[in-house]
Amino acid sequence: MLVDIKKLKEAAISAMQNAYVPYSHFHVGCSILLDDGTIIKGANIENASYGLTNCAERSALFTVYSLGYRKENIKKMLIVGDTEDVISPCGACRQVISELVSDDTEIILTNLHDKYRSVTKHELLPFSFTKEDMKK
Ligand code: THU
Repeated sequence: MLVDIKKLKEAAISAMQNAYVPYSHFHVGCSILLDDGTIIKGANIENASYGLTNCAERSALFTVYSLGYRKENIKKMLIVGDTEDVISPCGACRQVISELVSDDTEIILTNLHDKYRSVTKHELLPFSFTKEDMKK
């Protein structure tokens, strides 16, 4: 396995431990490798009103942007959950990924074992609504 991916997976698994999941008890971790070598981690944070839950992917991406990085700085993104097959990001995260990640950024979906799938944002959400759609 590539060193980058091994390190990213370890980081995402460690983020899973920080998940705040009193309702689902389902821990998810996300790690993002930046062009300066920094790895940003995120976990899912739930809420009693359920709908306000923030998935691990959005936690990590919002941290990246909050720190001043932008899509050009993102080299790879990895998402892990304790699933049988690779984890599949929810629709809300696909929409956010479609705006905040570059076309060719590698997004690695994995589980706690040996399943891996590498996708692009267009594979996750083809024909997405973007800022271009608001231009006439
Ligand atoms: N969840 C994520 O954080 N990422 C995913 O890709 C799938 C789902 C979270 C949301 C919620 O806290 C829990 O997993 C169950 O849906």
